[in-house]
Amino acid sequence: MTSSPGRRRAAVVGTGAIVSGGHLPALRAHTDRVELVAAVDVDPGRLDAFRTEAGEGVTGFSTTEAMLAAVRPDLVLIGTPPSLHREQTVAALKAGAWVLCEKPLCLSLAEYDEIAAAEAASGAYASVIFQHRYGSGAVRARELIRGGELGAPLVAHCQTTWHRDAGYYSVPWRGRWATEGGGPTTGHGAGYTGLQWRGPRDFTGGTVFAPGVEGGGPGERFMGTQGPWLGFTAERDAVDGASTVVFAHAPENLDAGGGGRAVHPSHWFVRSEPIPSVAFSWAFFEEFGLPAGESFACRYRVVVADGAWDRERVEEFLAGVPW
Ligand SMILES: NC(=O)c1ccc[n+]([C@@H]2O[C@H](COP(=O)([O-])OP(=O)(O)OC[C@H]3O[C@@H](n4cnc5c(N)ncnc54)[C@H](O)[C@@H]3O)[C@@H](O)[C@H]2O)c1
Repeated sequence: MTSSPGRRRAAVVGTGAIVSGGHLPALRAHTDRVELVAAVDVDPGRLDAFRTEAGEGVTGFSTTEAMLAAVRPDLVLIGTPPSLHREQTVAALKAGAWVLCEKPLCLSLAEYDEIAAAEAASGAYASVIFQHRYGSGAVRARELIRGGELGAPLVAHCQTTWHRDAGYYSVPWRGRWATEGGGPTTGHGAGYTGLQWRGPRDFTGGTVFAPGVEGGGPGERFMGTQGPWLGFTAERDAVDGASTVVFAHAPENLDAGGGGRAVHPSHWFVRSEPIPSVAFSWAFFEEFGLPAGESFACRYRVVVADGAWDRERVEEFLAGVPW
């Protein structure tokens, strides 16, 4: 295989929607730096169509292993179904290539560890596509935060209000645990359902407390539990002392089994280490189905307080602010 001086030799694995519609135009826009030399797909029709579109000089393969052995690319772009990402990323790293993989990079922390070990062994690097980090919304949010217009960010709320019709799910791998690794939350957003608080660094190791539970403890003690509210308190620094954040459900959010109108019972996703986090997770243990065209809503309250509040103080405060 010949190479043009100064340009990285790239291969794509998977030639479906995102590689044809996203990666190929991007590769074309950077032909001064990168040269597409190979494409892999198990579907010969898709591979042929892609190679016709991509132009001469792109060799086709039906397996990643055969491509890596024959081409030894500098860079591998992976756009296959998520259940294949770990295996193909590790294979490319072992062959000495750098990797840019579509999201999600893998389906579990164990898979991630395997990729990190392959990176360490090869010295190459595997990155993952998170294009929204660089989109106009994120750029604007960073500007506002940097300019001080938002003050110190304490709570962030992100909504992904996209609609996906039946055609989107008609590809063989979408909408199945084994091949997609989860549902829309995994595919479209980062892992946690419901409003998620990611605390500042000095909340790390903080104390969590809840009604009906004696004493406070690390957040992990409350992981997966249920309750109307949760308090998180931490010693911020030697000067200002402590702060408390309280997360409270509106009464109608509470477990349908408890007489509420909730569509699905919420459980706390809560951690004190390594990153302090609390989420009102409404799909903690299992996904739930919504009939087509239906939606659901939850209401929450977040209280940010000065000092280390205890259960009594939280209960007294919440009783004074009815829904
Ligand atoms: N960043 C984004 O905005 C974005 C958008 C869409 C999709 N994606 C991601 O891109 C990936 C692919 O999505 P898509 O919509 O292009 O799917 P797709 O079904 O259109 O394409 C997947 C391709 O992989 C091929 N394939 C399957 N098994 C293979 C194997 N073992 N070796 C080589 N090729 C194989 C299929 O034949 C198909 O051509 C997914 O991980 C998805 O989450 C990202």
